[in-house]
Amino acid sequence: MRESYLPFALPDIDERELTEVEQALLSGWVTTGPKTHQFEQEFAAAIGARHAIAVNSCTAAMHLALEAVGLQPGDEVITTPLTFAATAEVVRYFDARPVLVDVDAETLNIDTAQIDAAINERTRVIMPVHLAGLPANMAEISRIAQQHALKVIEDAAHAMPGVYNHRAHGSLGDLVCFSFYATKTLTTGEGGMICTENEEWAERCRFMSLHGISRDAWKRYTAEGNWYYEILAPGFKYNMTDVAAAMGLAQLRKVNVMWQRRKEIAAAYNQAFAQVSELLLPPVGNAPEQHAWHLYILRLHLERLQIDRSQFIAALKKRNIGTSVHFIPLHIHPYYRQRYGYQPQDYPVSYREYQRMISLPIYSRMSDQDVQDVIEAVSEIVVQNRTA
Ligand SMILES: Cc1ncc(COP(=O)(O)O)c(C=O)c1O
Repeated sequence: MRESYLPFALPDIDERELTEVEQALLSGWVTTGPKTHQFEQEFAAAIGARHAIAVNSCTAAMHLALEAVGLQPGDEVITTPLTFAATAEVVRYFDARPVLVDVDAETLNIDTAQIDAAINERTRVIMPVHLAGLPANMAEISRIAQQHALKVIEDAAHAMPGVYNHRAHGSLGDLVCFSFYATKTLTTGEGGMICTENEEWAERCRFMSLHGISRDAWKRYTAEGNWYYEILAPGFKYNMTDVAAAMGLAQLRKVNVMWQRRKEIAAAYNQAFAQVSELLLPPVGNAPEQHAWHLYILRLHLERLQIDRSQFIAALKKRNIGTSVHFIPLHIHPYYRQRYGYQPQDYPVSYREYQRMISLPIYSRMSDQDVQDVIEAVSEIVVQNRTA
């Protein structure tokens, strides 16, 4: 058994982040400024998007995206129960309704066959989540959206650097929202990005991200700017700082190297667990799709084990392996249960899969020995607890 605790996630920070951040700190410009501008430009270029707007979280990105398409009270937005709090709470900010559509049992992404039944005259937006970094079925989602004149806002919090149909996430679709939270595949501590091809939405997101005022603060206080500004709408305080953007620049330059390592780890897990009949492996995606491998969600065949998922997690913890669960479905949380009267069985696939899923550690700083330790711990727990 390993002696030290293996955390579930760790950021991959080295001299390159330190150098960029030091430059930002010493430049005298620590809030939104040249580094943020450069990060937006390099991010847009890296994925082939026309516009990239840096903000301070993916939650902020999704809020701004919904604002940009003009969501109104009483409108409806379709998403899945198997996601983080943020995806639905941003809909509630507008006093609009998140309408949940269950996930596909294999991919854990929105079951596109059930979307049509959830659409009515109040539906405005579909918000697919690329869970774990596996692309949702965007061809089908776009087709349905076009047919009903709906907008598609992607929750791409897990999806950098994912690829769908030969195109990087963020280079197509209406508005695509990324997260740079501490555990994500590219981190700025806290941060997010909105990508869009639409100039009008890009402009709206940009100026609403900074109080709805008519020009960026950093321009106002530099030689090229002046003191005058105008408030055009009651905006938000969602801008990214240059300190965060500096970190993002260093992370962006190694995002593919970090992805390669996660891909290797996923392959090692898949190979080790392929013959273990108590375990169900995550889908790897169909080429030319590229799974971003933000998460490795292992599922248990509970009927073949004497312990449940929580006991399995406790056994891993006892062996010094950190894990997590993605996600506790929205519809069983008190707020959504009370507000909309949901029962656990209303979304049977999300509920069933939630009860048997464990996210294993998968990050570029893991050594081969770390990976081996996880494999050994999981294998040993299975052997000690199989029913037969
Ligand atoms: C699926 C999903 N959507 C949205 C978010 C929100 O991201 P952020 O923390 O950057 O606001 C997260 C963060 O964990 C997430 O996992």
